[in-house]
Amino acid sequence: MSEEITPNELTARKIEIEQHVQAIKMPDNLAIALMVAKHRKNCNDEGCPFDYYAFAFGQSPFHVPPPLVKALGKSAEKGHYSDAEGIPQLREAVAGFNKRWFGIDADPDRIVIGPGTKDLIHLIFDIVSGGAILPSPSWIGYSPQIKLLEKHFHILHLNPDNDYKIEPSQLHDFAKQFSGEQHVMVINNPHNPTGVVYSRGELEEIADVCRVNNILVIADEIYAITTYNFDDFTSMGVVYPEGSFVTNGLSKDRSSGGYRLGSCILPEKCSKKDSDAFKKVAATIYTYVSTPTQFAAIDVYNPNDEIDEYFEITRNIHRIIGTHLSAEFGKIDGLKVTTPHGGFYFFVDFNELKDDLKRKDVPDSNALGHSLIDHPFHFACVTGDACLLDPDDYGARIAFVDYNGKQAYDNYKADPPSNEAEDIEFVKKNAPKMLNGIESLKKWVEFIRS
Ligand SMILES: Cc1ncc(COP(=O)(O)O)c(C=O)c1O
Repeated sequence: MSEEITPNELTARKIEIEQHVQAIKMPDNLAIALMVAKHRKNCNDEGCPFDYYAFAFGQSPFHVPPPLVKALGKSAEKGHYSDAEGIPQLREAVAGFNKRWFGIDADPDRIVIGPGTKDLIHLIFDIVSGGAILPSPSWIGYSPQIKLLEKHFHILHLNPDNDYKIEPSQLHDFAKQFSGEQHVMVINNPHNPTGVVYSRGELEEIADVCRVNNILVIADEIYAITTYNFDDFTSMGVVYPEGSFVTNGLSKDRSSGGYRLGSCILPEKCSKKDSDAFKKVAATIYTYVSTPTQFAAIDVYNPNDEIDEYFEITRNIHRIIGTHLSAEFGKIDGLKVTTPHGGFYFFVDFNELKDDLKRKDVPDSNALGHSLIDHPFHFACVTGDACLLDPDDYGARIAFVDYNGKQAYDNYKADPPSNEAEDIEFVKKNAPKMLNGIESLKKWVEFIRS
């Protein structure tokens, strides 16, 4: 030990945190919880009985499907260690699921199981060399991972006039700067935060651009099964099998985010050496997903009528609520809104109010979120950095999941609405709080304009 520094001085020193960790933002689930807690406290200080309209956190509102609950009970005694890439029986079941639902031909050897798609996406960014391309707006998860890995990345700003979809010609021009050097791009379909779904033709054109520009794709298809008109969904694993890492999991369509289980189909052109690299890094970082969870998941990947019914009912409820809410938001003067076709989000463009917002001391898109949740509006949503937006781009993601999912599920099953008028009645009965949230948003717009 150095003579100049005493043990007491060393004990008194602060812990030093690595620069790359300091550079990343708090993930949105934590950031939103902290923001809401702060506003709750401030409002309590004013004697306000704080309640808020919860349009921020994107968690499926439904119950864990009963076959999964039962299977987990049965597999509790599977306490042994397993394989980094996942147990063979589960990889086989995942391969079968991908064939049945998406038409993807993937040998189980190309499938890796991980603790949620988030970890798998992190693994891909870590393993694949070259820079990353992140379309904006996007889900917040990607950019902190890239920053943590100190990976080079480029933001591809999506065009609102093209429904925030990647345009092949735009991507081609954008890729010229890379001169054929390998890059990896995220395509999230259905898209969080806009809810838009790509057609097969659109994906084929994008795949062609990727081929000629040496762009690999992380096809984040975690919302695939929730596509409202399921026939509209095409997997990138079908149109660009040689270059896509297709990720999916239990979190959204089977409402089991807490189970932490996802899968990745490696690109067809992955060599044995590439897939070994994947296993090696998986084993180094997370070892593997808990063995009982892996065994339980087999039952909800294998053909199962109860799960098929669950998919059908939950996607219909998402459709009914998302269609009605986005239409109602769109009626508010000054707001432009996407229409969701899958998932449980839509995107609101507030830029028409930009001058009023600046005048009202809302200087950027991060501040937009704070203004909306301020007393008395109490409207929580995700804005700014959390959607990878430029500070001057006033946009927000709306998650429409603030209702009792189990009750809505049972009500739908007992008496499914069969036309638009009945759909609206269904929303009024099952999701009244979100409708009240729209009234609060209208008052906020009036306030901003006043
Ligand atoms: C677009 C998107 N990708 C990935 C994830 C992470 O999913 P998982 O729970 O499988 O890690 C989420 C969760 O919010 C998401 O919205």
